[in-house]
Amino acid sequence: MSTKQTSSKMDKIVNQVSVGVMTSGGDSPGMNSAIRAVVRETLRRNYRCYLIREGYAGLISGKIDEANWSSVANITHIGGSFIGTSRCDEFRTYDGRKKAAKQMYERQMFNLVVIGGDGSLTGAQKLKEDWMKIGEELFAEGNIKLDVANKGRELRLVGIVGSIDNDCIETDKSIGSDSALHRICESIDGLVMTAQSHQRIFVIEVMGRHCGYLALTSGIAVEADFVFYPEMSLEENWADKLCQQLETVRKLGKRHNIIIIGEGCKNAKGEKFDAKLVKSEIENRMTAEVRTVSLGHLQRGGTPTFLDRLLGLRMGYNAVKELLRVDKDGKPFTGSQNNASVICLRGHTIKQQSLDKVLRKVEQANDEIKHGNVEKATKLRGTGFLDKTEFVAVVSNPLKTEMSSKSKVFAVIHVGLPVAGMNAITFAFTRMANQQNIEIVGIQGAWDGLKNNGVIPLTWKSVEGWAQEGGSLLGAKRQLPSELDQIAQGLNDHNIDGLLIVGGFTAFVSALIMHKNRSEYSSFNIPIVVVPATVSNNCPGTCASIGADTALNEICRQVDNIRQSAIGSKNKVMIIETMGKRSGYLASMVALATGSDYAITYQNVMDKDQVSQLAKKVKTKLEAGKIDKYLIIKSEDTIENVSSASMKSIFEQEFGEKFSVRITNLGYSQFGGHPTCFDRQMGIRMGIRAFEALFNPKKMGKRDCCVIGLRGSRLKYVPVCGLEKKVCMNHFLPLKMWWIETHSLIERLTWKPEDMEEKTITTS
Ligand code: ADP
Ligand code: F6P
Repeated sequence: MSTKQTSSKMDKIVNQVSVGVMTSGGDSPGMNSAIRAVVRETLRRNYRCYLIREGYAGLISGKIDEANWSSVANITHIGGSFIGTSRCDEFRTYDGRKKAAKQMYERQMFNLVVIGGDGSLTGAQKLKEDWMKIGEELFAEGNIKLDVANKGRELRLVGIVGSIDNDCIETDKSIGSDSALHRICESIDGLVMTAQSHQRIFVIEVMGRHCGYLALTSGIAVEADFVFYPEMSLEENWADKLCQQLETVRKLGKRHNIIIIGEGCKNAKGEKFDAKLVKSEIENRMTAEVRTVSLGHLQRGGTPTFLDRLLGLRMGYNAVKELLRVDKDGKPFTGSQNNASVICLRGHTIKQQSLDKVLRKVEQANDEIKHGNVEKATKLRGTGFLDKTEFVAVVSNPLKTEMSSKSKVFAVIHVGLPVAGMNAITFAFTRMANQQNIEIVGIQGAWDGLKNNGVIPLTWKSVEGWAQEGGSLLGAKRQLPSELDQIAQGLNDHNIDGLLIVGGFTAFVSALIMHKNRSEYSSFNIPIVVVPATVSNNCPGTCASIGADTALNEICRQVDNIRQSAIGSKNKVMIIETMGKRSGYLASMVALATGSDYAITYQNVMDKDQVSQLAKKVKTKLEAGKIDKYLIIKSEDTIENVSSASMKSIFEQEFGEKFSVRITNLGYSQFGGHPTCFDRQMGIRMGIRAFEALFNPKKMGKRDCCVIGLRGSRLKYVPVCGLEKKVCMNHFLPLKMWWIETHSLIERLTWKPEDMEEKTITTS
């Protein structure tokens, strides 16, 4: 096949070619969500889509099925990969890749989405590199016709990182890592109970290959006493130091110890370093009962978390957008044709990176670890990772057992509804203070507590176990500071030198009130920090608030159950009402993550006529048997005259006796129980940054009254006075909310276009 021939006979009809999607390597929860998005977005753009089963093995052997819209229905809540995955040595060879390419040419599958870890993406990159040569060979051997060879001159390839290890440097998260953390924390929470009863030490092995992400992140979230991870340099006397630390915390009254060890750990000689070894070293030095646990493949199993479902959906959608990008004339975009890309997450933004660049970085980090250059490897993993290596020590290591001459007193108050993760913030704040000899007091029951002397000391020991506890152990209330003279008096009485306010929009407004009244009340002239904690995610200055992730996971769990009952009993419309007031965050996000049909929020509001039109549309589909249920997620405070009850009656008027409508108001159950790993570790991160700001107000810049905001991948101090102009005080909402633009994907990926035919598809 010469280049000349190819260009002269190029076929212009783009949608004769097709898109293939596959999973490879270790499976991970959330992959199904990505597959669903790839399939539906591809079909929506009028391309054929193929499901490649069993990873590269299936690509080689031709286990490939055409997908239709319903092939990917009801799969977002299921863990693993429903199309199967594998590790396949044959694909590592040129001949293996040639067989795979032949299968692809036969289906004109010249667009490929590979979901997997760095190994799988390396394999994909190799296929792309060999593609032209293989195409020429297949043509020369008479295996493919000229027109097909011409159409397939280029393999368009997009990778999605699906791996629990989260070792791919350019993306903040890979699909599955959050679910794995969820499983790890859940398991260790259970172990803590038995460890406490028996006063035991548990050494727990977690996965992660060469990367310490799972070990470090879970270690922070479960208040582990020590974490071993592959990027750590192990001192020769590590066992003595570890045992000294364990003895110290035992003297402080701790009844149990948790030690986490990442699977890829090696000692200074490069020898494997595992839980059994740690156990025997402890037993040689202490008279304690030590047990080892390997969590193994449990970590990869189970239902995907909210974050992994949403990540899968957004990455899958964006992969197709990139793959099928067209130029202004509607022709396939050729700007980046030589480079395959990977879809990455940076903060809350989806970005693409060159696959080649990403793989080189991962390889470099793995090489550094192999050669014992752990510092370089840690640096390559980025500042977030580096921070974690420091946080682990802060959380677990008591530097001061007793307060000597006190220098300062900082107070912490929980304002707003009690949400999961508030305690984790206070825990980290208090543990940091211990390192700097600062006294911490907790104000019980919000501003009323300060007025009524509800102030208690918080110590290293008294906050033990707080990271894992839901709600607010200090007591929280949704109230603004009033009777300011009493509040000022309370701060004076307890000699407060700095204040941490934990809460949502009310916490932000509280800080603003104090800031504005500084000239009148001298005791308000102290550094003040707000850590956003609200399920509504409406605190300004941040893209994420503590507590929302726990709520979203709980709501997803309940919506999954309701959906199951709707599928079983058929012909039902379910209206599920979430919290969030005027912020539609919970409703929009849950609808996306659960594959619900519709979300109604204040940001995407409907009037009665529109509800009536929707009811008509749903009725037609139910009557035609095109759908068997319809799930609407509705935010509690949309507009006054369209409540859940009035929506129900509009639907019922339309349906008559034919179909039924049910409302479920999830109420306070949405706050969830124990905080998720995300809320714990992000809460701890923010609690640490809050302490640093009060301890050294210069860190906040010119203003010393700030919200700690997650901006991109970083935590920033954002002055409250500047944020006043960026909110709507009537509705308690920030003016800009990043998540609003994702709302349109709910219908796009759920509603099959009217004109799309559902072919009967035979599976291989
Ligand atoms: P992960 O994708 O989870 O990192 P692996 O490293 O086991 O998992 O890789 C999964 C599969 O990707 C392998 O079984 C193989 O088929 C393919 N693969 C990995 N590395 C290469 C490579 N260097 N060349 C070709 N294929 C590869
Ligand atoms: O890459 C994901 C992962 O779960 C690693 O953490 C672990 O080392 C490996 O896969 C386990 O592989 P397998 O499932 O083949 O035993």
